[in-house]
Amino acid sequence: MIVKPNLRVPDYVQNRKLIDWVQEMVDLCKPDEVYWCDGSQEEYDRLCDLMVKAGTFIKLNPEKRPNSFLARSHPSDVARVEDRTYICSFAKKDAGPTNNWMAPAEMKRKLIPLFDGSMKGRTMYVVPFSMGPIGSPISHIGVELSDSPYVAVNMRIMTRMGRKVLETLGDGEFVPCLHSVGAPLEPGQKDVPWPCNTEKYIVHFPEERSIWSYGSGYGGNALLGKKCFALRIASVLAKEQNWLAEHMLILGVKDPNGEKTYVAAAFPSACGKTNFAMLIPPKPFQEEGWEVTTVGDDIAWIKPAADGKIYAINPEAGFFGVAPGTNVESNPNAIASIQENTIFTNVALTDDGDVWWEGLTKEAPAHLIDWTGQEWTPDCGRKAAHANSRFTAPLNQCPSVDPEYDNPRGVPISAFIFGGRRSTVMPLVYQSFNWNYGVYAAATMGSEMTAAAFGALGEVRRDPFAMLPFIGYHMADYFNHWLNFGRSIPNPPRIFNVNWFRKDENGKFVWPGFGENMRILKWIVERARGHAASLESPLGWVPRYEDLDWRGLDFSEAQFNEIMSVDRDAWQKELTGHDELFMKLYDKLPKEFIFIKELILSSLWRAPEHWELWHE
Ligand code: OXD
Ligand code: MN
Repeated sequence: MIVKPNLRVPDYVQNRKLIDWVQEMVDLCKPDEVYWCDGSQEEYDRLCDLMVKAGTFIKLNPEKRPNSFLARSHPSDVARVEDRTYICSFAKKDAGPTNNWMAPAEMKRKLIPLFDGSMKGRTMYVVPFSMGPIGSPISHIGVELSDSPYVAVNMRIMTRMGRKVLETLGDGEFVPCLHSVGAPLEPGQKDVPWPCNTEKYIVHFPEERSIWSYGSGYGGNALLGKKCFALRIASVLAKEQNWLAEHMLILGVKDPNGEKTYVAAAFPSACGKTNFAMLIPPKPFQEEGWEVTTVGDDIAWIKPAADGKIYAINPEAGFFGVAPGTNVESNPNAIASIQENTIFTNVALTDDGDVWWEGLTKEAPAHLIDWTGQEWTPDCGRKAAHANSRFTAPLNQCPSVDPEYDNPRGVPISAFIFGGRRSTVMPLVYQSFNWNYGVYAAATMGSEMTAAAFGALGEVRRDPFAMLPFIGYHMADYFNHWLNFGRSIPNPPRIFNVNWFRKDENGKFVWPGFGENMRILKWIVERARGHAASLESPLGWVPRYEDLDWRGLDFSEAQFNEIMSVDRDAWQKELTGHDELFMKLYDKLPKEFIFIKELILSSLWRAPEHWELWHE
């Protein structure tokens, strides 16, 4: 006889489709229990306690890090798995050449046996969540079924989670998200601190608007509101409904007169997005009254409103930030955000029950327990924290959080910024001539490989709009969607490209970055408002040295010219690099792109060879 766990559906759950789906997934996954999360503090504390008892969580010293925990994952389960991530649209051509694809029926034939009984011996948590402020016209609701309490507590920080979401849902639409770590327990079998499976599948069914994730408990693989829903599934919704779901931070810039301008910015992973989102302006700017505020550090949902402007929300409610390199100098706001109520994953544990990672302090502590649970000393030759170790912290703990971060209306976006990691070729900043040029620049942006990414060191990986791993459909259809979106709004935001990473002939970064990026941000904001001087370059509008505010920084005109230079030969090669991307996407590539490329090429030939000469 099969004993089904009693669903005990809470009386505030009205949604028949939800109840039927949960019942169906219970029948498939066969958990011992089903628990509906209400999102309360009491529930959060209880689940954290449970994980401390199970060995998944270590409670940190409450004097140093109140209400905070450390989790250590299985060493094989430490990052998103792009090669195991699938877009299972009905037609292969709708997923496009940049995504892994399998026919939905074939994928279900693989997944159903894997999920069959996958939650035996465990509890299935029903995690209702809203991406964006509950009830906002820009927000969307999802429900994640997961056998991981780690997922449940992280989702409470990263999203608006719990009872209120289901009360708001009523009988409305939601995105069903099924997640299992794929580690059923036989009766009497002892659990491990971080259950997972060597076989992993992160699968999206765009037409069904559903997500199935199997085998991993880590980050974007398991917290399905983030990359899976807020980017891959949402990008499909956005195309159909004429809005944008983007891998972008959102920040506000307030000038000394109190005028506020919001911008959204896309950078590939590991280009300092969290740092930029929490930027602290240099002293002279602060003294004058300039302020930067944070709406989000990773994802933006942007919809047109009746007033002709476009409004953005951060669909998330927390930061899932990379720990290594974060310190009081690189990002004081991030450090302040993680003082309490924070979950750390795969960082090191200090002898006094606090956390540490490479770059947190100049000198490493004399002794630690590393992210794998082993003794660690500075001379042991191993990293103490994993390179992709993370903190999960509530957004409203950030000192720079924008007062409008939770406004259901969103914030009006006046400019888009795109930036990759390029040691050559790309200038520090330029503004595209118009929307179409800007879309072209974003579509062709690239980043040089770091040691952590795939491919050869230094090779440029094209990462259009920083969306390569996150787009839920054909990349060229996405380019067309951006072009159409610009046509559909009366006064589209200005589009800028930045590159903080130009190096000199000795391989040293020229631009100081971090808070100094304010100088570029100020010019961008003033351009977006229509009153900053500039010069025409082959790529777009650029500031001259005298157009930027250099107070408090010793940065010479020669240095500036070095990182603003547009080298004709290098750009010819760069444009050939764009062709490689275009060939891959040719069947659906916007024809505009072919012409824009030709226009850039011809401008390169018309312009004087050296940037310095443009001044004359
Ligand atoms: C992230 C990423 O974790 O982009 O945000 O990889
Ligand atoms: Mn990201």
